[in-house]
Amino acid sequence: MKRVVFDRFGSPAEVLRIQDDVPAPQPARGEVMVRMLASPVNPSDLMYIAGKYGLKPALPATPGFEGVGIVEASGGGLLGWFRKGKRVAVINDRGNWAEYTVTKARQVVPVPDDMTDEQAASFFVNPATAVAMTEQVLKVPRGAWLLQSAAGGELGKMVIRLGYKSAFRTINVVRRHEQVEELKKLGADHVIVERDGPIPEQVRKLVPDGVRYAIDPVGGETGSQVLAALGEGGRCLLYGSLSDQPVSAHPRYFIGNNLRVEGFWLGAWAKQQGVLTMLRLFRRVKALMREGVLQTHVAATYPIEQVAKAVAHADAPGKGGKVLLKIGDR
Ligand SMILES: NC(=O)c1ccc[n+]([C@@H]2O[C@H](COP(=O)([O-])OP(=O)(O)OC[C@H]3O[C@@H](n4cnc5c(N)ncnc54)[C@H](OP(=O)(O)O)[C@@H]3O)[C@@H](O)[C@H]2O)c1
Repeated sequence: MKRVVFDRFGSPAEVLRIQDDVPAPQPARGEVMVRMLASPVNPSDLMYIAGKYGLKPALPATPGFEGVGIVEASGGGLLGWFRKGKRVAVINDRGNWAEYTVTKARQVVPVPDDMTDEQAASFFVNPATAVAMTEQVLKVPRGAWLLQSAAGGELGKMVIRLGYKSAFRTINVVRRHEQVEELKKLGADHVIVERDGPIPEQVRKLVPDGVRYAIDPVGGETGSQVLAALGEGGRCLLYGSLSDQPVSAHPRYFIGNNLRVEGFWLGAWAKQQGVLTMLRLFRRVKALMREGVLQTHVAATYPIEQVAKAVAHADAPGKGGKVLLKIGDR
């Protein structure tokens, strides 16, 4: 079979190569073998290849944390047997950018027939994170303000639509003016462009006492300004490091305002949840995907052989949507 590999950590467009003569991996008991159809290029994949992610694989390694495929074989066990022949969303740290992959049977979720491969490929990482952060961790109440940076990204747009549906209000930070109208059309209550002035000042014109809830995947100057826009009792989840820079804030600000700043990582959070919570989460994700709330806009699709072009596109500012790798046909 064919797969993407990297032998050293580095710039994704430089270190990835195609291997086309490797045997397909075989599933052990409790595992399934999946024939992959498509997989997105997420920021986490790019960081993983660069050696900057929370998980560091033994090299050579195959990237691709999520995707969609068809279960071809089970290594044994009831769940794997039930999954055989099903089209499934796959979450996996053994690499989905391959014609065949192996993962635990409980890490594949059957997807409805009317869900396209494009949407099913991005079932886990962004949709589950958007729901978990806003509904399970922060539990943002109706009418409350949520401030988010990188709001024009695919996850940011899901949070905007979730806010619109669940009646919490969003203040959205972007770095390009052309995103303002697009985000308002999705239901954003307010959009701030970073270069129009300090984020806390722009936020306090709207919410004079500062916001109670914030999420930031950027860090650096942007993340620090998001923290400074929190009001009394405010809580912020740091869930990404797009700027690759640290956040900073004065301790007195945290103490005086009784602030809470926490990291959020879907994989770690999911491990702490019971089976029922995860089943309920997947059911909610499916329903919200059907309604278009957790929709992913695909900017471009590349065949797996053009993985270097795909990762370069995915790493470019203003790419306008998710980049997808097409790996196989149904
Ligand atoms: N912790 C978790 O469990 C978890 C789960 C899912 C996702 N994430 C994180 O969520 C973030 C967003 O993911 P995504 O799939 O929505 O990504 P995406 O679609 O690629 O969007 C990224 C967005 O971030 C903006 N951006 C990139 N670098 C920036 C910078 N230095 N300063 C300000 N804005 C910047 C981009 O702006 P332009 O449009 O102007 O280029 C774009 O709007 C990533 O950091 C990802 O790792 C974390």
